[in-house]
Amino acid sequence: MKFFIDTANLDQIKEAQDLGVLDGVTTNPSLMAKEGITGKENIIEHYKKICDIVTGDVSAEVISTDFEGIIKEGEELAKLHDQIIVKVPMIKEGVKAIKYFSDNGIKTNCTLVFSVGQALLAAKAGATYVSPFIGRLDDISTDGLNLIAEIRLVYDNYGFDTQILAASVRHTMHVIDCAKIGADVMTGPLSSIEGLLKHPLTDIGLAKFLADYKKGN
Ligand code: E4P
Repeated sequence: MKFFIDTANLDQIKEAQDLGVLDGVTTNPSLMAKEGITGKENIIEHYKKICDIVTGDVSAEVISTDFEGIIKEGEELAKLHDQIIVKVPMIKEGVKAIKYFSDNGIKTNCTLVFSVGQALLAAKAGATYVSPFIGRLDDISTDGLNLIAEIRLVYDNYGFDTQILAASVRHTMHVIDCAKIGADVMTGPLSSIEGLLKHPLTDIGLAKFLADYKKGN
């Protein structure tokens, strides 16, 4: 399972990279705005900074919603760095664009996916990644993890190469449940990754080992 961090915060990206388990980064316009990164030029420069920190895939989202606009923006983004994955929304023009990018060797992440039908369409169009938003489904009393399981079943039925990128991960149990179900990737906050570290018996055990070592020395 790949671990992506879902942020545009460079310090958190560095911290996750330093842990040695990071496979990539996802961003979106809201995450950029949260870091105060606005305007096309600043956003482009920020993507380059992220690519300099990590070795894996970096999702960069298009703003256009028409086919020509998505293609123009996506081709510009893809040229920035070979780690860039063009993030395209699950809309009709987006599906057409994903097919175009797939035919032209540009990797994509189909975002804002909330149903198995949308995920099937993204895979048919040749998306590299599909991003079902599990946290936002949970927010409206719908089982986000069940969507991951359904997409896994459908993709396995037909051997689709599209990777299931569990997005809108909010906490560590989401990460663990996604791993059990067979999501290929999860993207979440740094806290969802660091939460995997924690167990009180580890802390108690280490404290005892260190205390016993001191007694003997
Ligand atoms: C990732 O690609 C998505 O943009 C992100 O995971 C959305 O997460 P949120 O629902 O916590 O905003």
